[in-house]
Amino acid sequence: MVTGANGQLGNELRELSAVYPEYKFYFAGRNVLDISEKNLVLNFFEEHKFDYCINCAAYTAVDKAESERELSFLANATGPAILAEVSGITGTKLIHISTDYVYNGTDHHPLKEDSATGPVNVYGQSKLEGERLVRTENEKSLVIRTSWVYSSYGKNFVKTMMRLLSEREELNVVADQQGCPTYAADLADVIMAFIDADVGGSKLSGIYNYANNGVTTWYDFAVLIGEMIGARCRINPVKSEAYPTPAVRPLYSVLDTSKIRAALDIEIPFWKDSVVRCVERLRGGGLAG
Ligand SMILES: NC(=O)c1ccc[n+]([C@@H]2O[C@H](COP(=O)([O-])OP(=O)(O)OC[C@H]3O[C@@H](n4cnc5c(N)ncnc54)[C@H](OP(=O)(O)O)[C@@H]3O)[C@@H](O)[C@H]2O)c1
Repeated sequence: MVTGANGQLGNELRELSAVYPEYKFYFAGRNVLDISEKNLVLNFFEEHKFDYCINCAAYTAVDKAESERELSFLANATGPAILAEVSGITGTKLIHISTDYVYNGTDHHPLKEDSATGPVNVYGQSKLEGERLVRTENEKSLVIRTSWVYSSYGKNFVKTMMRLLSEREELNVVADQQGCPTYAADLADVIMAFIDADVGGSKLSGIYNYANNGVTTWYDFAVLIGEMIGARCRINPVKSEAYPTPAVRPLYSVLDTSKIRAALDIEIPFWKDSVVRCVERLRGGGLAG
């Protein structure tokens, strides 16, 4: 069962489902299942008896969340808590997706699952509360924290940069925030690897960090995209203060992924290689969503 199926990750999972004929997938967008409606979720799960629920539903508008705190908490905390409780009742394993924004961004070494949290914006606070409630309601749940997600679907940094860098002559991009971009297609692969491992009997639970390999800044990320599309636009590195946004962003949110690599025995694609795959796909006419 994939909730929030019309978002970036939901769409990547839908695409990936074609290579998993051994599993029966059920994709539910918000129009079909609002995760904050408890009775709806309970009836739905009791009717279908899902083995796994991958929660891709979230309120992801980081800046808007500052003025829409209640909506952010409804989708990112109340909804996941309902999914976890109902999953416990129906024997469904919940795989919940969280974010690097649960950390406060002042540490300057890769963040482990047990590193101190301390979100600096409402979105991060609502996601941290979601994690807490998921783990309290159903300790068998799995939480995957990821960062800087992009895809050929939906709205994201890669698609915005491809557009702006071809339209403009000059663009300022923040260069003092460090993190790891994550291709939602790679994250979808890893979620399926978790399910395979779980079905195989490993019964994994708890928190795992996942992002593509390597570290970068939004500026270097933009430069790579510009090079790939042959943009003539001049890209200027600027400090976060020069680009004020309603929500403060953590300055450092590099995820340590050693736990997930060891648990699943996987190699994680380097961030640049994944950006190249996504941009090539978009340039090949795959502009979706
Ligand atoms: N995007 C990032 O950079 C990023 C970074 C770190 C972690 N994450 C996490 O990764 C996960 C997947 O993110 P994404 O980028 O795929 O998000 P996305 O593209 O914004 O998709 C989220 C989907 O959830 C739906 N939704 C919102 N509220 C809902 C509700 N109450 N019930 C059911 N569906 C609801 C949205 O529908 P509407 O569009 O109709 O609202 C949207 O289709 C999320 O947990 C997110 O917090 C994302």
